[in-house]
Amino acid sequence: MIHLTIDGIPVEVEKGTTILQAAKQIGVKIPTLCYLENVLPDGSCRLCVVEVTNNGRTKFDTACTLRCSEGDEVQTMSEKVVKYRKETLDLLLSDHRVHCFSCEANGDCKLQDYCFEYGVEKTSFPGEMNNAPIDDTNKFFTYDPSLCILCHRCVNTCKEIVGRGAIDTMNRGFQSVIGAHYKNTWNEGICESCGNCVQACPTGALTMKRRKKYRPYQIDKKVLTTCPHCATGCQYY
Ligand code: FES
Repeated sequence: MIHLTIDGIPVEVEKGTTILQAAKQIGVKIPTLCYLENVLPDGSCRLCVVEVTNNGRTKFDTACTLRCSEGDEVQTMSEKVVKYRKETLDLLLSDHRVHCFSCEANGDCKLQDYCFEYGVEKTSFPGEMNNAPIDDTNKFFTYDPSLCILCHRCVNTCKEIVGRGAIDTMNRGFQSVIGAHYKNTWNEGICESCGNCVQACPTGALTMKRRKKYRPYQIDKKVLTTCPHCATGCQYY
């Protein structure tokens, strides 16, 4: 067994346990975007960064990929960790078309939730953005690259949970998109439209077509404004 502390709380875990799993064991929450339970960690979003001190040496690493070591002292909300998370969200927003009010995923978007929680309202890195066209070729869902954060939850779900491997990252840089292999559109590949990728998407990049006519209403979500027009509140901020 391995012994460590997380935010000062002692925890004992089996060899091979990640910091994220150890934190979960004692009820410490670490924010994640690309992580999905039962899927190999992707480590692409960097939001789960934590500060780890061991033998007088300190490092910053992603909790979803880092395995626990004997004597680790982990800080999940230190000043630097919070600063790095804010920078990560800032960078993610720099290539994300922000139109939350009219977005299909408004109120059901992990990026929106974390930006709100960490007080990141807009990017400080304006510039070039992904301008790849929307892929609307699938009968049941739509893929919008301008909302995609390339977390690969959809890709890994298709590969590891569904066992289909129908999609992957295509192109490079600002042209990077998720699509069917060999740059085919979604309807030209081997996708069977099971929809598991849509469920895995943490933003509005993949949305079911049937949702288009409705604004998702989830009573457990935050009501951030209330105005005299409807008096029921909305999630715009
Ligand atoms: Fe760990 Fe994305 S959740 S890197």
